Amino acid sequence: MKEWYEKIDAVERVSDLEAIRIGIFGKKGVLAAEFAKMKEAPNEQKAAIAKALNSHKSDLSVRIREKKELLQLHELEAAMQAEALDVTLYSTTSQSGSLHPVMETMDRIVEYFSAMNFAVHTGPMIEDDFHNFEALNLPKYHPARDMQDTFYFHDEMLLRTHTSPVQIRTMLNSKPPIRMIAPGAVFRRDYDLTHTPMFHQVEGLLVDEAGRVSFANLKFILEDFLHHMFGDVAVRFRPSFFPFTEPSAEVDISCIFCEGSGCRVCSKTGWLEVLGCGIVDANVFDAVGYKDVSGYAFGLGVERFAMLIHRIGDLRSLFEGDIRLLEQFR
Ligand code: PHE
Repeated sequence: MKEWYEKIDAVERVSDLEAIRIGIFGKKGVLAAEFAKMKEAPNEQKAAIAKALNSHKSDLSVRIREKKELLQLHELEAAMQAEALDVTLYSTTSQSGSLHPVMETMDRIVEYFSAMNFAVHTGPMIEDDFHNFEALNLPKYHPARDMQDTFYFHDEMLLRTHTSPVQIRTMLNSKPPIRMIAPGAVFRRDYDLTHTPMFHQVEGLLVDEAGRVSFANLKFILEDFLHHMFGDVAVRFRPSFFPFTEPSAEVDISCIFCEGSGCRVCSKTGWLEVLGCGIVDANVFDAVGYKDVSGYAFGLGVERFAMLIHRIGDLRSLFEGDIRLLEQFR
């Protein structure tokens, strides 16, 4: 029997061990053969032979079991070695994202007005005619509607052309005083170097008791805001027209590219237009049922700000999702 112990000790694979087990314990195995031989032995020896065989039987089965556990452990270790990941290995494939320049600019704008105690309100992008136009002193067939190339679903529903409807909704849902901004995406049928069919606005509205809100208040906060965004620039207010404000103004900053001496970006004027604003028209307050109030409003295009701040020439490049462009704004 001795050689079987040696075989077990020498074996290196679980599958070979199994062959040895069958060679010992199988129907045609060595133990079966030895027990068969025992029958021919003289009777007085049988007990001793049986005892010896039984002790081999249990010793061998213990040895096989222990060897099997050992081999399985080795095989597991070998498999783990083969599959091991070196987590300290340097990888060139990981990429971290960053804020889109438009969102980053929007955040800066919102941060400024939040610090000035303006609440942030949002509203639906699919709007009805009343909130987007009618309540803003833009009745049907008013020629000023042409200023906003509108995407219509049908006569009454449209993609909002500005975030002013959010201000209407806010006024309808709450009482004055109001101090709010409405950031968000807006839509117009327009596509060229400086216009995309979707862009972002931040509009602001302040409403208080009649006589308490003046153009001087509006001028102060917008000047401060523009200095916050563009640094040390000159700011000028130019008379303009919006249906929802009266009087209205457009706001320019001195060109940040040529510092006012005239270049391609400012069309040789030395000025860049960045904002629309004005004193809220009485008809707007009538539409929302506000009495004895006064207010100012303003609106700006976030992409325009982002393009100026980051000196981006083609607005469309902001929406092409080209990683090479976006990576420059990490
Ligand atoms: N709603 C205007 C627009 O989108 C911007 C604006 C808002 C102008 C408030 C004046 C006052 O064109």
